[in-house]
Amino acid sequence: MKEKPKSVEQEGPGPFGTVYVPPGRRAKITPENTVCAGKISEIPLGSAKSILLDKFNISLFHIGGGFYAVKEACPHAQYPLTKGKVVGETVTCASHNWKFNVRTGECLRGEEGLTIKTFPVEIRDGEVWIKL
Ligand code: FES
Repeated sequence: MKEKPKSVEQEGPGPFGTVYVPPGRRAKITPENTVCAGKISEIPLGSAKSILLDKFNISLFHIGGGFYAVKEACPHAQYPLTKGKVVGETVTCASHNWKFNVRTGECLRGEEGLTIKTFPVEIRDGEVWIKL
């Protein structure tokens, strides 16, 4: 007997080794169009966190100047910027080394004039909130 095809939930790792997260476990968007990324203590200085939404993901970086959120998919070939290396305000994509300023979204190495989407971040009661 022919085996039934697996559902999306059963396919395992997604592109570039990202883990598929079912819709019920993704970050919830509030009616004010904000999303809670977690407690400050869960995102230590120097770390990055991937915030999974239904339509796209966000990379949240905690660097010296604070928290910065950008659309996660690198515009070159969609590699997750959360996996990149951060020095100062610059993240270097781990796939082909394009560089972006995580505060302004400016592309510093790659396609001239390109910017990545940035999102305002706010701290409320010890939690990090992103405005979409
Ligand atoms: S996917 Fe980011 S530089 Fe190629």
